[in-house]
Amino acid sequence: MMNTNECLLIFFLCCVTFDFVHVRSVSETENEQRHQVNGDPILIEVNWTAHDYDLHTIPSLQIVTNPLVSRQFSPVSNEIFANLKQLNAEYARYAVWFPYPKLAVAELDPPSGFHQCNNVGENYSIHLSCEQGGGVISQIDFASFGTAVGGCGAMKQGTCHAANSSDIIQRTCVGQQKCSVTASSDLFGDPCINVSKRLLVQIQCNPPQNNTYWNFTYMDPMLEDFLQATDGHSRIISFSTQPTWLFEQDTPHIYPDNATYVDWGYPVGTKFVDDTMQALGDYYGRLFAWYTRAGFIDEYGLKHNSGYEYNWDYTEIFNEVEGEHQMTVEYYTRAYDAVIQGVRRHTNNYDMKYVGMALENHNEFNWYRYFLNHSNHAPDIPLDMISYHFYAIGSSRIDPQSWESFFTQLDTFTFEVEQIEEIRKILSPETRTTIDELGVILPDDNNPNAPLFPLVYWNAAAALYAYAWGKISRQGINVVGHSQLVGYPNLPNLQLQPQYPSVALLNWTTGEGTAKYWTSKLLIDTVDIENDQAVATQTTDIGNQNIYSQGFVGKNNRRWILIINKRYANVDIFLPGCTGGRMQIINEASGFGPATEITLTLSRITLTPFAVAIIHMPATENIF
Ligand SMILES: *[C@@H]1O[C@H](CO)[C@@H](O)[C@H](O)[C@H]1NC(C)=O
Ligand SMILES: *[C@@H]1O[C@H](CO)[C@@H](O)[C@H](O)[C@H]1NC(C)=O
Ligand SMILES: *[C@@H]1O[C@H](CO)[C@@H](O)[C@H](O)[C@H]1NC(C)=O
Ligand SMILES: *[C@@H]1O[C@H](CO)[C@@H](O)[C@H](O)[C@H]1NC(C)=O
Ligand SMILES: *[C@@H]1O[C@H](CO)[C@@H](O)[C@H](O)[C@H]1NC(C)=O
Ligand SMILES: *[C@@H]1O[C@H](CO)[C@@H](O)[C@H](O)[C@H]1NC(C)=O
Ligand SMILES: *[C@@H]1O[C@H](CO)[C@@H](O)[C@H](O)[C@H]1NC(C)=O
Ligand SMILES: *[C@@H]1O[C@H](CO)[C@@H](O)[C@H](O)[C@H]1NC(C)=O
Ligand SMILES: *[C@@H]1O[C@H](CO)[C@@H](O)[C@H](O)[C@H]1NC(C)=O
Repeated sequence: MMNTNECLLIFFLCCVTFDFVHVRSVSETENEQRHQVNGDPILIEVNWTAHDYDLHTIPSLQIVTNPLVSRQFSPVSNEIFANLKQLNAEYARYAVWFPYPKLAVAELDPPSGFHQCNNVGENYSIHLSCEQGGGVISQIDFASFGTAVGGCGAMKQGTCHAANSSDIIQRTCVGQQKCSVTASSDLFGDPCINVSKRLLVQIQCNPPQNNTYWNFTYMDPMLEDFLQATDGHSRIISFSTQPTWLFEQDTPHIYPDNATYVDWGYPVGTKFVDDTMQALGDYYGRLFAWYTRAGFIDEYGLKHNSGYEYNWDYTEIFNEVEGEHQMTVEYYTRAYDAVIQGVRRHTNNYDMKYVGMALENHNEFNWYRYFLNHSNHAPDIPLDMISYHFYAIGSSRIDPQSWESFFTQLDTFTFEVEQIEEIRKILSPETRTTIDELGVILPDDNNPNAPLFPLVYWNAAAALYAYAWGKISRQGINVVGHSQLVGYPNLPNLQLQPQYPSVALLNWTTGEGTAKYWTSKLLIDTVDIENDQAVATQTTDIGNQNIYSQGFVGKNNRRWILIINKRYANVDIFLPGCTGGRMQIINEASGFGPATEITLTLSRITLTPFAVAIIHMPATENIF
């Protein structure tokens, strides 16, 4: 802080000499109703020759798979991937996540030897096929339309059962190479009105055929689009969801028949059936061989060809499993090693780098202490990078004033980052860090009846991300990833249930960038970790209650400063020497467009609510 006399003197000069640069917002009248932070403008003083800290922190983002991302279901997937491409992000994280099991898991049912099973809900079609072994369907072991349960080899009739189930399947399928039967009451009659019914069938082939259930129909197109949009950049791929059947469970989990229906309950089970975790490693190994080695050899020795020979540099292992599968750090650490060993077994790739943990509860310090200790891992297991997540949590969907609390939540998080860094530096200093989910979640976000937030929310969340990048850059974290590209509320036209709309970076109806997206773009375009260094920056803003500001000096004496208005109010700042410079500002007025560019003619600037500004100082500092 500077002393009061200096401050007053400069303020006096500025007031006499300059007028306001007023950055217009969408509605002037609306803004006038909001309160103005009272008193003097905040003086920002940067000492451009005083080194503060080295800059290492790459701004990035995550994209989570869901139906709106998929070209198979989405009217805006072209816009989404064009916007992703134009970001030119390094270390974008692609998270293949569980709520849509058919979009996230390549082998939804366990291999079942000579028995072939299928299980569909009412009005969906069951498909049975003996084509793989060049045979025909020879025997119906089990068939029931009703309330049957159980996995392959263990199916049991329920109290509700259509008596002609076996006859119908027998007549339609036996002797055929393949057949399809619709699980409808029109066909089977209705054995129990108003009860939800499924059709379960188990068959055998002649000649016998070993059956697996690998299916990449929905996973492939999205990954293709992601890899194309991020071509030439480093990327982190996270096939975060393990098939549920790898875990012990009483009855098999029934996942939705429709690929676009949400299943929040997919990750069940806390203990792997195969305690050696070899089966877990094999699942991931085959998945990686599919995408990077043109195909894989399945559980029974059969080759499945993909033609894909993709390459990416980082693979993240699981996502938030401490919550989803209640894994302990010891269990997770074994699983991490098993996945790497499995990928190596099936691909012979020893160059892949790995990201560990992806913790939801970032402050579980015992996880870092255990995982980052190399003696807790198998030999030759790399600890290339760790990851953890942070979300500021809103208390209201509709009250913008309440969103000012995001910034203090982030302040608390930075203290935790500091503690994690202490642990990492002692145990595994070469391990890098990506905070690969950083964002905001508003309350009731997945409630289909929750109100839509006012659009200034995009600015509040954008400001939080920019603030997080700035604050965390002081700790030397390698990557901070904005969460996340595509979310949406209830979309009745597409029959989609909500998927964290407040976390989105893009507008779900148009695919356009919101202020969150454009803030990421602004930071990605501006930050140059090869050359930029932070320099000493002081303000008269007591306790930094209103703004964040940080100056950086780069190549060829490039001087820029990031300024964020943390308030739902106009805040005036005074930045000596900025006239003739260029300001890029994201605020309500910049809407769904990029930062507004303004050549500064005055040193006093009004920042509208939650504005994010980058000011590029003029090449030669003006004399005041
Ligand atoms: C700026 O920082 C440099 C290096 O720390 C120092 O020598 C100089 O006195 C500072 N200038 C002002 C105006 O504080
Ligand atoms: C299945 O389709 C029938 C006829 O279209 C309809 O009456 C019934 O409600 C549907 N059942 C379900 C569970 O969607
Ligand atoms: C199966 O049995 C039900 C109930 O008796 C009957 O309504 C239905 O038509 C039968 N379906 C076939 C294909 O025979
Ligand atoms: C089935 O549900 C409908 C709507 O809830 C109801 O009107 C009907 O009486 C029910 N039928 C039986 C047999 O329970
Ligand atoms: C894979 O899944 C798709 C979509 O559900 C389905 O149409 C296709 O028949 C499946 N392929 C195989 C080989 O089961
Ligand atoms: C089925 O798989 C077993 C290995 O588990 C293999 O020995 C056998 O030859 C396979 N049979 C066919 C018909 O593919
Ligand atoms: C690392 O783990 C080993 C084995 O569990 C333990 O003996 C050692 O004390 C740990 N090192 C540190 C620095 O915690
Ligand atoms: C699956 O859901 C989509 C909407 O997301 C819908 O268009 C489609 O008809 C559904 N399929 C079935 C078989 O119900
Ligand atoms: C999405 O864009 C449309 C068209 O510009 C706009 O009317 C709507 O308010 C936007 N919605 C959100 C949540 O940004």
